[in-house]
Amino acid sequence: MNKQTIDQVDLAGKRVFIRVDFNVPMTENNTIREETRITAAIPTIRRALDRGGRVILASHFGRPEGKVMPEYSLRPVAERLAQLLGQPVPLAPDCVGSAVEQMVEALQPGQILMLENVRFHAGETKNSPQLADAFARLADVVVNDAFGAAHRAHASNVGIAQRVTPAVAGLLMADEINYFNRAVRQPQRPVAAILGGSKVSTKIAVIERLLAQVDHILIGGAMAFTFFKARGLSVGSSLVEEEMLAVARDAEAKAKERGVALLLPVDAVIAQSITSQESRTVPIDAIPEGWMGLDIGPATVQLFQDALQKAQTIVWNGPMGVFEKPAFAQGTLALANCVAHCSALSVAGGGDTDAALRQAGVAERISFISTGGGAFMELLEGKELPGIAVLSDA
Ligand code: 3PG
Repeated sequence: MNKQTIDQVDLAGKRVFIRVDFNVPMTENNTIREETRITAAIPTIRRALDRGGRVILASHFGRPEGKVMPEYSLRPVAERLAQLLGQPVPLAPDCVGSAVEQMVEALQPGQILMLENVRFHAGETKNSPQLADAFARLADVVVNDAFGAAHRAHASNVGIAQRVTPAVAGLLMADEINYFNRAVRQPQRPVAAILGGSKVSTKIAVIERLLAQVDHILIGGAMAFTFFKARGLSVGSSLVEEEMLAVARDAEAKAKERGVALLLPVDAVIAQSITSQESRTVPIDAIPEGWMGLDIGPATVQLFQDALQKAQTIVWNGPMGVFEKPAFAQGTLALANCVAHCSALSVAGGGDTDAALRQAGVAERISFISTGGGAFMELLEGKELPGIAVLSDA
C-alpha cells in the first residue's frame, strides 16, 4: 500500500482530475450538516492549484442510481467549497460529454471546475468502459483523494485510473494509508482495538482479523450482549443476535488461544426501553428481565482505560452505547476522553465514532480520524481496496 502521491508528479499546466468523496450528510432543507469530507480534501486541491494544475473535481453524492435527481446535485457543495477556498468553483452541468470537455479545455492553471454528480450516470457504479473512457478524456493526471469510496470499483475512481498515467494518491488518501499502516500493519505494541456498535454480524470479520494483529480487544455497544448470552449470562431484553452465539463463543476461544485479552463490559447502564426516562447502572450479571443494556457503566470505563493506558497504539471503531441519547452517552464520551488523553497513536474510523469524538470535543486530540465508513471497515477486515490498489506504486 505504498503509493505515489500528488507531490511526486508534475502538475504545471496539466488537467488534474481529482476524485474526492464529497458525499456529505445534508439536513432536510438541503444544507450541509457535516463538512469534514470537504475540508479534508482542501490540502490536495490547494496543492494542485498552487502547482499550476487545471483542476477538475469529481465526486459522487448519495445514491441517485443512474438518474439525474436535482436533490443529489453537488451545487451546495460547490458553493461551500468556493467559500472555503476563496475562489470560484463553477459547477459543470454534467460530469462528461462535449460541453464539459470544452469547459475543461478553457480552464487556466490555478482554476477549478467541479463536475456534477458522477452517479447521475448508471455506468459509474458499473465501472462502464464507455464512462471511464469519457472521464479519461478530461484528464492528464489522476489524483484519488476519495478514501471514503476506495472500497468501490467505479468508473471515476478505478476505471479512469486504469486509463490515465500517472494515477496517484492525494494528500488525504496518503494520510489514510499512512495512518492505517502505522496503526494496524506495522504498529508499535501493545495495540488495543476498541470495537462497538450494535451487531456482532457486521463486525465479526473485523474481530477475526484483529485477533491476529492486536494485544487487547475491548468490546462495547449492544454487540457485547451477544457475547454475554453466548457465555450463558442472562441479559434481560438487551439486543442479542441468536444466530451469532456460536461465532461469539468461537471468537472468545480464538482470543484465548492467541493470548489476546478480549475485554467485555463489567457493568451497564440499563433502561426498560431506548426512550424511557428512568435508567440505572448495574453489574453486568444483574440485568433484570425486561431491562436492556444501552451504555457501558463507569466500572467498564475504568477497566477499558487501564488497558488503553498500557497501549502504544489504539484503533477505534463503533460507539459503546446509544450515544445520540444523553442518558446513554456517558460511556462513549468518557472513553473518547480516555483515548484523547492517552499517549498512544490513536486512529478512529466510522461515522458514529467520528460523531462521538466530535460530541466529546476531543476530535483534535486523536492522531487521525478516518474519513471512511465502509472503506475503513474493509481495510480493518484485511481487504484490498480497489480504489487504492489501482494507483501507481511508489
Ligand atoms: C460513504 O459515504 O461511505 C462513501 O461515500 C461511499 O458511499 P456509498 O456507500 O454510497 O458507495
